[in-house]
Amino acid sequence: MIGIFYGSTMGATESIAEKIREIIGRGKTKLYDVASTPVDTLNDYNLIIFGTATWGEGGLPDDWNAFISGLDQVDLSGKKVALFGLGDQDLFPDTFVDSIGILYEKVSGRGATVVGSWPVRGYRFDESRAVKNGAFVGLAIDQENQSDVTDERIRKWVDQVIAEFGRK
Ligand SMILES: Cc1cc2nc3c(=O)[nH]c(=O)nc-3n(C[C@H](O)[C@H](O)[C@H](O)COP(=O)(O)O)c2cc1C
Repeated sequence: MIGIFYGSTMGATESIAEKIREIIGRGKTKLYDVASTPVDTLNDYNLIIFGTATWGEGGLPDDWNAFISGLDQVDLSGKKVALFGLGDQDLFPDTFVDSIGILYEKVSGRGATVVGSWPVRGYRFDESRAVKNGAFVGLAIDQENQSDVTDERIRKWVDQVIAEFGRK
């Protein structure tokens, strides 16, 4: 079973989380809103997907506050984590999908193996905390400017993540 944990302010991240769930399969996944989920739920999963938007110029949405501080109490070693994030590259070209980078730093610090890195090709931005060694450390989605390629990006990324999870 794969646990999908998302935090969404306006609902866009939630609908992407639901799409990812449909593609992987409802029976193989469970969906959790981090605003109303105890962090120790992570103990039930070895394969985890985290999804977040970026708010306030480079920050996590408020819905993540309790969960992110709770992560300090959870051992993620031996777990595989894939990350996706939403952002707006035209309005926020210097903090584009920074929250993916914030989650990456947090979960790798807790011992998780992060999978599902994604090329920067096809996006236009100047700076992102989510770029490490020339690639995004998770899937970047831009519903404001590139919603036409979202479904294709999700399908390709999910295939890659399932393979890296060792499920195929
Ligand atoms: C006040 C505000 C600040 C934002 N800051 C950023 C940002 O720093 N970087 C970024 O990539 N996107 C930023 N965005 C864009 C959101 O991440 C994007 O609209 C996202 O789809 C919202 O997802 P949600 O509906 O799940 O909250 C911001 C949006 C708003 C309204």
